[in-house]
Amino acid sequence: MRIELTEEQRMLQQTCKDFADNELKPHAAKWDEEKRFPSEAVAQLRDLGLMGVAVPEKWGGPEMDNVSYVVAMEEISRGCASTGVIMSVNNSLYCDPVLRYGNDEQKERWLSPFASGQKLGCFGLTEPQAGSDAAAQKTTAVPDGDGWVLNGTKSWITNAPNADTALIFAMTEPDKGVKGISAFLVDRDNPGYETSAPEQKMGIRAALSSEIVMEDCRLGPEALLGKPGDGFKVAMSTLDGGRIGIAAQALGIARAALEAAREYAVERVAFGKPIADFQAIQFMVSDMATRLEASRLLTYKAAWMKDQKARHSKESAMAKVFASEAATFVAHRAQQIFGGNGYSVEYPVERHYRDARITEIYEGTSEIQRLVIATSLLREA
Ligand code: CAA
Repeated sequence: MRIELTEEQRMLQQTCKDFADNELKPHAAKWDEEKRFPSEAVAQLRDLGLMGVAVPEKWGGPEMDNVSYVVAMEEISRGCASTGVIMSVNNSLYCDPVLRYGNDEQKERWLSPFASGQKLGCFGLTEPQAGSDAAAQKTTAVPDGDGWVLNGTKSWITNAPNADTALIFAMTEPDKGVKGISAFLVDRDNPGYETSAPEQKMGIRAALSSEIVMEDCRLGPEALLGKPGDGFKVAMSTLDGGRIGIAAQALGIARAALEAAREYAVERVAFGKPIADFQAIQFMVSDMATRLEASRLLTYKAAWMKDQKARHSKESAMAKVFASEAATFVAHRAQQIFGGNGYSVEYPVERHYRDARITEIYEGTSEIQRLVIATSLLREA
C-alpha cells in the first residue's frame, strides 16, 4: 500500500498553494466583507485549468483525476473558501453530471465552455420544501410540442446569480414519485428564468446563492439530460461526487484555521512565555492536526474510489461528515487559541469558523450523511 501523491499531483498542489497564497489569501477577507463574487479569482482558476479538473481534454478540461481535484480544492479553499465552493459547484455539480449523462451535442454546448471556465454552471435541486427531502420536488416540467415548459422555484442555489446555465430537476410525472423526476439544462437567458437577489449568509459570503424562479420557461427537447425519470439518480450520483469536493473544501478551511492558530500560538506571549509552551494549547493543536489528517485520508480514499469508478456513496458521505465536523472543531479551537482576538474581524479565524459551518449543511447535512452511511452499511450486510 502506498499513500503518496504522484509527481503530477504534487506539482499541481504546489501551483495551487502558490496561487492561494498570492492571489486568494490576501483578498479573501475583503471579498467576504463586500459579499462580492471574486470574478478575478475565477478567471485565474480558468487559466489554471481548475474549472473542470476531471473533464477529458476533448470536452475542454485538463483530464486529471479526482484525487488531483481534491488536492486542488483543499489548496484553493485554504486561500478562500468562497472561491473553493464556486469551483466545486462548477466541477462536481455541473460538469460531472453533464459529462456522465450528456450526449455529444449536449457536451459540445453545455460542457466544453464550462469545463474550460468560459462559462459557469450551477445545480438546481433544493426547493423551499425540498432540502434534505430532495425527492419532494414541486417544480414541474410539462411536455410542450417536442419540448417542455418549466414552472417552479429553486432556493439556496450556489452560483445561481453568476451562472450561465443551471442543471434543474423537475417533476415530469408527479404520480411516479422519485421515478418521475427529470433533469434539464436551462440557460439563464431563457425567457421565464429569473434569479432573486443573493441570500444574506453567515459565511462563504463571496460565493453568491439565490433563488431561481421559472415561470413558463420553455425548453427544447435537447435540454433534457439523461432519460425522463432519471433525474433523481442523476442528482444523487452527482452529490456522491459533490460531497467529496465539499470534504476537500472543509479540509482547506480547517488547514487555514490550524495554520493561523499555530502562527499565533508561537508568537503570543502570556504568563511570561509563548502560549504554544502550555499543554492546554498543545493538546488543542494536536487534536486539530489529527482530525485534519484523518479527514484528508477519508477524502483521498473517496476520490480514489471515484477514480476507480466504484460506487462511493458511503465513502463520500463519510469523508464529508467527518471533514466538515472536523473543520468546525478546528476553526472553533483556533478561535479559542486566539482568545479575544479570535472574535475580531481583524483576524481570520472568525471567518474560518463562519465558513466551516456551511460544510456541515450544504450538499446534505451531517444527519443526511449519517443516513447515507447507515443505509449503505445495512444494504451491504
Ligand atoms: N446513486 C444512484 N442512485 C441513488 C443514489 C445514489 N447515490 N441514492 C439513491 N439512489 C436511488 C435509489 O437507489 C432509489 O432507486 P431504486 O428505487 O430504483 O432503488 C432512489 O434513488 C430513491 O432512493 P431513496 O429511497 O434512498 O431516496 P429518499 O427519498 O429516501 O432520499 C436521501 C434519500 C439520501 C435522504 C436524499 O434525499 C438526500 O441525499 N437528501 C439530501 C439532499 C442534498 O444533499 N441536497 C443538497 C443540495 S445541493 C447543494 O447543497 C449545493 C450547494 O449549495 C453547494
